[in-house]
Amino acid sequence: MKLRYFGHSACQITTEKGTKILIDPFLNGNPVSPVKSSEVGADYIILTHAHGDHVGDTIEIAKRCNSLVICNFELGNILEAEGLRIHTMHIGGGFNFEFGRVKFTIAHHGSVYPDGRYGGNPVGIVLTIDGITLYHTGDTGLFLDMKLIGELNKIDYMLLPIGDNYTMGIDDAVIAVEFVNPKIAIPLHFNTFPVIEADPEDFKRKLESVNQGCTVLKFGQEITL
Ligand code: NI
Ligand code: MN
Repeated sequence: MKLRYFGHSACQITTEKGTKILIDPFLNGNPVSPVKSSEVGADYIILTHAHGDHVGDTIEIAKRCNSLVICNFELGNILEAEGLRIHTMHIGGGFNFEFGRVKFTIAHHGSVYPDGRYGGNPVGIVLTIDGITLYHTGDTGLFLDMKLIGELNKIDYMLLPIGDNYTMGIDDAVIAVEFVNPKIAIPLHFNTFPVIEADPEDFKRKLESVNQGCTVLKFGQEITL
């Protein structure tokens, strides 16, 4: 399986069978993404919440690629009204898709749609694909239940925000990684805008000092998991 990071919280997973899954595809408005929405494809798009920097280019991509959009119920109603194919889920629920299993967790944040419509509660995503489990926390502050998420799921890769201001900053993100205890942590949601400037190498050093692994992905970089 491959993971490509576009900056902010946007990433793409390509499974061993070639299924393409986008998470929070904020590309055209994302000043650090080297890729525009017209350059990506998606069989599935998974959304953590309804904010514009996460829904991003979902409508354009999903209409062009006939993607199935997986998101919370309230955001799903909005996107269905926009003409998209949806599969709605909610916090605590999991579903086995053709490519693997998706389970939604809590996240502490907001989730209004850019035009003011109610976007439900934000979620984190636990994804199990090709025998590998990823936890994309979505936008969130630190919360103690992350310990439970780590105990119930053996997390291989934890993707989490470090940019502060709207989400966890580096110091809280280090504690979050210790709670979940993944094999590798990957920082998200930093350096997109001046208000969320953070040094991912500082995050990595702090994790290494508590014996936690970290991989910092460059914007646009793809790695094999
Ligand atoms: Ni947000
Ligand atoms: Mn955000």
